[in-house]
Amino acid sequence: MSLVALTGVSKVYRSLKGSDYVAVRDFSLDIPAGEFFCLLGTSGCGKTTVLNMVAGFEAASSGTISLAGKKVTRPDADRGVVFQGDDSLYGWLTAMGNIEFGLRMRGVSRAEREQKARHYLELVGLKGQDHKHPSELSGGMKQRIQIARVLANEPQMLLMDEPFAALDAHTRADMQRELKRICKATGKTVLFITHDIDEAIILADRIGVMNAGPASKLKGIVPVTLSEEERERTHDKFTAVYRQVHELIRDEVALALQRQQ
Ligand SMILES: Nc1ncnc2c1ncn2[C@@H]1O[C@H](COP(=O)(O)OP(=O)(O)OP(=O)(O)O)[C@@H](O)[C@H]1O
Ligand SMILES: [Mg+2]
Repeated sequence: MSLVALTGVSKVYRSLKGSDYVAVRDFSLDIPAGEFFCLLGTSGCGKTTVLNMVAGFEAASSGTISLAGKKVTRPDADRGVVFQGDDSLYGWLTAMGNIEFGLRMRGVSRAEREQKARHYLELVGLKGQDHKHPSELSGGMKQRIQIARVLANEPQMLLMDEPFAALDAHTRADMQRELKRICKATGKTVLFITHDIDEAIILADRIGVMNAGPASKLKGIVPVTLSEEERERTHDKFTAVYRQVHELIRDEVALALQRQQ
C-alpha cells in the first residue's frame, strides 16, 4: 500500500511582478511504505518544490498529496525534513540539546527525551559526542546530528533534500552507508533528492527522473533491485542501471542548458 500519493500535482509560483512560473505540472507518484525513493533531475527542475509540497511547506496549486490516506495540508511530525545544503542546527545547543529539541517542544518528559536522544545519537554513530556544540563538530558529524534530530521525532517518513551534497567523498560514502543501515533498522519511508546518479543507485529502491523545467513532472522510474554487493560502482549490474538512468536524464540536462542560454 502506498504511504505517500501525489496525484496530478502542479505548482505555480506567482512572482511579485505578477507573472506566473509553472514549476511542476501534473506530477504523480506513489511511494509505498518502507520504500527508499530517490528523485533525480537537473538543477531548477522542481525537486525541492515537490519535497516542500510533501512536507507541507508549500501548497500545491492543483492536484492532491496524501500521506497514509490523509490529505497533506501543513507540516507535521509524521514527516521529518533534512534540508538542502544548510546548517540548521542551533549553535547555542549541544548535540544532545539539538536532538531532543523537537521532543522538548512537544512536552516529552526529560527522562524520555534523554533516552530517545541517546538512542538516536548512537544510531548515527556519534556516541560520546553529546556534549559538543555544532561549532566543535565536523560537517559530517553535523549532518548526522541533523538526521538524528529528525529521527528523534519518530516521523513516518523522511524527506531529504540533497543532505550529503556539501560533504567530501569519504564522509559522503560513510553517510550513505549509515543512512541505509538506519533506514533498514527503522523501516522508514524515504523521499531523497540528489543530483548524483551513483548516490541514487547506492541508496534507492526506485529512482525517479524529472524532466527539465518548467512544467516538470516524472519522466520515468527505474527500479533498483541490486543486492548490496552489486551496488558497487564497478559492478556490471551497477553500470547497467547507471546507463538506464543516464539515458533518461541526458536529454534533460541538454534541454536545461539550452533554456539557460
Ligand atoms: N518561491 C519561489 N518563487 C518563485 N519561483 C520559485 C520559488 N521556488 C522555486 N522557484 C522556481 O521553481 C523552479 C524549481 O525550483 P526548485 O528549487 O524546486 O528546483 P530544484 O530541482 O530543487 O533545483 P536544485 O537542484 O538547484 O536544488 C526554479 O525555476 C525556481 O527558480
Ligand atoms: Mg533543490
